[in-house]
Amino acid sequence: MDTLKVDVKNVLGTVTSEQIQALDPEATQGLEKLHKGTGLGSDFLGWVNLPTDTTDALVADIEECAARMRRDCDVVVAIGIGGSYLGAKAVIEALSDSFAMLRNDDERRCRVLFAGQNIGEDYLHELQDLLRDKKFGIIVISKSGTTTEPAIAFRLLKEQLESQLGKAEASKRIVAITDAKRGALRQLATEEGYKTFVIEDNVGGRFSVLTPVGLLPIAVAGFDIRALLEGARRMQEATTAADDSNPAFLYATTRNALYRAGKKIEILVNYNPKLHFFGEWWKQLYGESEGKDHKGIFPAAVDFSTDLHSMGQWIQDGERTIFETVLSVEASKFTTVIPSDAANLDGLNYIAGKRVDEVNKMAELGTRIAHVDGGVPNMRVIIPALKEEYLGELIYFFEKACGISGYLLDVNPFNQPGVEDYKRNMFALLEKPGYEAETAAIKAKL
Ligand code: PA5
Repeated sequence: MDTLKVDVKNVLGTVTSEQIQALDPEATQGLEKLHKGTGLGSDFLGWVNLPTDTTDALVADIEECAARMRRDCDVVVAIGIGGSYLGAKAVIEALSDSFAMLRNDDERRCRVLFAGQNIGEDYLHELQDLLRDKKFGIIVISKSGTTTEPAIAFRLLKEQLESQLGKAEASKRIVAITDAKRGALRQLATEEGYKTFVIEDNVGGRFSVLTPVGLLPIAVAGFDIRALLEGARRMQEATTAADDSNPAFLYATTRNALYRAGKKIEILVNYNPKLHFFGEWWKQLYGESEGKDHKGIFPAAVDFSTDLHSMGQWIQDGERTIFETVLSVEASKFTTVIPSDAANLDGLNYIAGKRVDEVNKMAELGTRIAHVDGGVPNMRVIIPALKEEYLGELIYFFEKACGISGYLLDVNPFNQPGVEDYKRNMFALLEKPGYEAETAAIKAKL
């Protein structure tokens, strides 16, 4: 059966199979902690059984809401940041037409835009300007309901929607995804009568793409969330064994064996521009889960072959502290053959008649051989195609491996205490009520 596979043979010049297998007992314990809820952060394990726990009624409700938004709106703005943004963005980009922004036909045009993932004044101004003559809707996503970036974007777009439609009609075009009971967004949604979906307490932001947080924007963009969940379900089943038949187990032990051998940086590589944001999602998942107690593999991401012309030199020849994990897609969706040219001034006739993807695959193979020869161990995570079901597999695979890997590092993979520090400083600098002492302290440092 076509499914996700992990290939680790190209790390064996740096670590041996025995070194990788030496981590099996610890990884077995890690997996058990995930399954039995006995490890650090066990309050946040709702994602482990999410694919099988998601009810048909919830999926149908999301699909119905998405269909209504697609019918009523030219554009839907998904407002959120971090885990409330990156999963949906990654899946939508992976599945969308590369030029969806400029397409006019209903099937391929871009419907979902994002906001609240930055505090760019020009970004927000230009978005508001674009929406001025559009029928638009809002999906506002915040588990805490208090995050500054999405709160600013929501305040601006809510006011704009209300002034375009009036308060009552605007409320019908706003969907809130937030905590079941707590937080400012829950309170507002109740007061204004917004349609809502719940982010369960036991699912952290970066593990929430398979909840309404990711599923609703993905469905609004026109993609099949049932197939996405089906792929995740398959991977839930495939990642229960405590041995190398479990791809998440193998990936987690291998990357930690490399880390313990001095490879401190992992570069997630794609050879498909549609996977750029998958790298961004993966960076958050691993960075926020593992970077703790002054430990953790640094997650970086590059887009090849584009970045071979910028980062290629460093990866081939820089400090030998890196390994790479290539996200390899077996089959392209379309066929484009390189034509022959009578003049052949560019010298490309030797590849005339080949598919573009054949050339891309040779770039991938040639780069892998060069990097391995240059001292960069290489793992591959292979999926058959960029389709919903395989992206569902990939998401669950990386989540499960992240949990095992966090426990191998002996950190709590499910908290993010370090993220609070910048917020405290920002609030102090903005003189937020309640932060008077912090404001005085920070001003003394300026
Ligand atoms: O993974 C996480 O928990 C974070 O990245 C959050 O998703 C992010 O900070 C947004 O938080 P919230 O959904 O509460 O607005």
